[in-house]
Order: sequence, then structure tokens, then C-alpha cells
Amino acid sequence: MSLQNDLLLRTLNGEQVNRPPVWLMRQAGRILPQYRELRGSLSGFKELVQTPELAAEVTIQPIDELGVDAAIIFSDILVIPEAMGLDYELIEKVGPRFPITISSAQQIEDLIEGENAAANLSYVYDAVSATKKGLDGRVPLIGFAGAPWTLLAYMIEGGGSKTFSQAKKFLYQRPDLSHLLLSKITTSVIAYLKLKIAAGVDVVQVFDSWADLLTPSLYKEFCIPYLKRIGDEVTGVPKIMFAKGAWFALSQFKDLNYEGVGLDWKTHPKMARKLLGDDKILQGNLDPCMLYANAERVEQAAQNMVHGFGGKHIVNLGHGVYPDTPLDNVKVFVNAVKAQSY
Ligand code: CP3
Repeated sequence: MSLQNDLLLRTLNGEQVNRPPVWLMRQAGRILPQYRELRGSLSGFKELVQTPELAAEVTIQPIDELGVDAAIIFSDILVIPEAMGLDYELIEKVGPRFPITISSAQQIEDLIEGENAAANLSYVYDAVSATKKGLDGRVPLIGFAGAPWTLLAYMIEGGGSKTFSQAKKFLYQRPDLSHLLLSKITTSVIAYLKLKIAAGVDVVQVFDSWADLLTPSLYKEFCIPYLKRIGDEVTGVPKIMFAKGAWFALSQFKDLNYEGVGLDWKTHPKMARKLLGDDKILQGNLDPCMLYANAERVEQAAQNMVHGFGGKHIVNLGHGVYPDTPLDNVKVFVNAVKAQSY
């Protein structure tokens, strides 16, 4: 099906466009009252994720309400550990928790991987199909997965953490097992993204949310080779790599097979451009807290960002939108971007 708004695809394709496309990480859920209402009527987050028609509804809400240039499928990065055999729960106001965590070679041996793991996620592929139907070609649909390190971090640590020191300890103490686990996660992510593409997503993004906890050398050893495999083996749609806080790895991203590179708000666009070369499309990178400022300043920030990047750019935040962000400011931001032209 041809898209009515293909600005994101043309931008990722390196074409000249009049203005950058705009979408927000974590735009589905969190900030929308429609989301909270639906979420409140259900048993929990997982019911929403696992019911394709509802996931599709929540995915489309920000298109109707905010007018962004892309939809991102409502799901979570933690569906992969679950498909591999490690169940997660989402505890209200606390976050994700894994009742059983990985600590032994035998547990890693026992994990389901690759196509067998991806086969357990039919509800995601059904949600993608339902969303494509509901979008009816209005905007492209982004599919996503967690990066191997970020997923390993949850599988070892068992939940959110400021330091993820258990997960880092595992990298330092058991590099052999770490590589085995990362490799199993990688084959699962690749199979999963391939099935998402087959179901209809137009773009994929890989989230390495805990990249900033690693040193440059840990990142080089435990992340880059797996991100490279994903970049090389997932083909057919443009890909975006977002590694939060990994400015130290940008020069290595230059050679990976991702058209787009997401930047967090601490990364200077000019530095990123220099390290990544002329070809990559940069995505980001407004401080999510900027959206707490008054409307005039938000509008100014949108203008400055569009013209500061000056092309080969997808407007986004430097990380996910915070749940208490004033919705009106999000709209001011999106509309201000859409009013610009290069
Ligand atoms: O971008 C989107 O809008 C699509 C939906 C999406 C969710 N999670 C929905 C969600 C995406 C892309 C994710 C990815 C995700 N999940 C990441 C990577 C991106 C990032 O922010 O760094 C991470 C680290 C997770 C793990 C996770 N899932 C956490 C830490 C939490 C709890 C806190 C929170 O609100 O993010 C979740 C649950 C979750 N995933 C919710 C939503 C809307 C909240 C569920 C609810 O209470 O309704």
C-alpha cells in the first residue's frame, strides 16, 4: 500500500525534503488521556500489549491526536526475554520485574532462541497487521526491539536499576556466558524484526537504553558486534539505532548498517555529524524536559532544532516523552516543526 505521508521514509532514504519528519519516542501511551482511560479499564499493561486490536488502537491514538509523521507499534522491548522463556511483570509505579533472573550457564542453555522465540510473539505481528489496516496508509509504522545489551541487563538484573551493577558484574566476571547470552538474544531479535517487517512495519528502531552505563571498551566488546549482526541481517526497511548516552560509540556506528542514528540530548549534533560522516540521518534530540517550558520557548526550541540540524534529520526527543508532559506543549512542538521549511 502506498503511503500518503512518506516523509520519514524519504528522509531515511537520503532524499531532499522540505522539512524534517517528527515523531516522539514513547508517544504511544503515557501522555494521552485516551490511553490512560483504556489502560484503566484493563487488567494491566500486558493485556493491552497482547490484544492486537487494543494495541493497534493505542498505536494510532497519537496520529489522530498529535499529528506526528509516524506511528510506533505499541509493545515493549521485554517481549523478547519473555518469548525466550523469561517471564516479566509490570508493577504499577515501579516498572518491569523479572521474577526469575539469569545467573547460570544452564539457564542460558535452556533459553528459547531465534525463530523459535520469535514464533511466540504472534500477538505482536497481529497488532502490526491490525495497525496497518487502521492507519490505512496515513503514515509509516515503526517496529522496534531492544538492543542485546539492554535486554541482557534486564534479564540479569531483574528490573530497573540506576547502575545495573549486577548486569555489569556479569560482563566482567563471565564474559564467556555474556557472549553466549548476547548471541542468543541477537538471533531472537533478528528473527523477531524479520517477522515484524513481514507483517508490515515500514521502519525499525533498535533501543539501547542502557548504553550509557558501559565504558567505551565494554561497548565495543559486548554491544557493537551484536548491533552489527542485526544491522546486516535485518534488511528490506530502513533502520534507526538509538543508543542512549553512547556518544563514545558514534564513530563505530558510522560503519554499521543503520540509515538513522538517534541522539540523546547531551550529544551535540555537530559532533555527531563529524563522527558519523555525511550519510547518516540523525534523529533527536530535544531534552524531554524542554517540553515543560512555556509554549513560546517550546516553539522557539523546535525552530532552532530544525534549522540547527539543517537537513538529514528526523525530529524527536533525546529519550522518551515523560508521562507528565503537558499535552498542549507536545502539540505546540509538533506543529512548530511542521510549520518549518529548510
Ligand atoms: O514508543 C512508543 O510509544 C511505543 C511503545 C513502547 C513502550 N515501551 C510502551 C510502554 C516502547 C518503544 C517501549 C520500549 C521500552 N520499554 C524501552 C526502550 C525505550 C526507553 O524508553 O528507553 C524500555 C527501557 C522499556 C522497559 C519498560 N517498559 C519500562 C522501564 C517500563 C515502565 C515505565 C514506563 O512507563 O516506561 C515499561 C512499561 C511500559 N512500556 C509502559 C508503556 C506505555 C507503561 C505501562 C503502563 O503503565 O501503562
